[in-house]
Amino acid sequence: MPQETRGDADVLRRLRSATAAEHERVEETLGLMDPRLTRERLATVLELMHGFWLAAEEGLDGWADREPRAAAELQWADRRRAALFAADRRTLGSPAAEPARPGLPPVAGTDEALGRMYVLEGSTLGGTFIDRHLATLPELSGGVRLRAFSPYGPETGPMWHAFRRAARAHVATGGDADAVVEAARTTFTVLADWCRPARAEVRA
Ligand code: HEM
Repeated sequence: MPQETRGDADVLRRLRSATAAEHERVEETLGLMDPRLTRERLATVLELMHGFWLAAEEGLDGWADREPRAAAELQWADRRRAALFAADRRTLGSPAAEPARPGLPPVAGTDEALGRMYVLEGSTLGGTFIDRHLATLPELSGGVRLRAFSPYGPETGPMWHAFRRAARAHVATGGDADAVVEAARTTFTVLADWCRPARAEVRA
């Protein structure tokens, strides 16, 4: 693609197309929309997600300490979610042990923070579908209510739009769109590789 066109392309559109293949890989591996999804398998997925979120948030917390204004503009404090995964695992009766975490690169600056946050925040969109599906599973009926997939409830749309606005504003005022996209791609690749054991389980 010519440089000029790439520079002009909206950063959100670039993020979506640059990570579409990895999103598909994750979606397929996790199989959360499977009508035969068992409670045991859901617990495995939640453990993987919990470990991934702990790693992803650790880097973002470091960035937020160094760039408190940017972090406040992006409402980072309201977007943290690792504790919700921990709570969901308790709800399912999983052992309280800390999960293993994947290795993720440090978050060098706001470009990289936006790329990583894109992956975390976008998951709330699919999360509303996942939540609705989980409510139909016989193994989860009887009041089991998980929160991490869809943490914002009716605020999902506004939280996503606020993120998109902030990402566009950052790029419009000198942010490096290439670095944002690269960070998202790296984050998604680490996630997809991290989820691979769940795929093996499905096939077994
Ligand atoms: C089985 C699991 C998943 C399913 C079924 C799923 C499904 C979806 C769906 C339907 C959307 C589009 C929603 C809309 O446009 O209104 C979406 C968007 C998205 N999901 Fe997922 N998702 C899953 C897991 C994940 C995970 C684990 C992540 C990352 C941690 C993720 C990241 C994203 C991102 C970044 C977007 C936004 C794409 C964009 O419009 O730019 N998804 N997902």
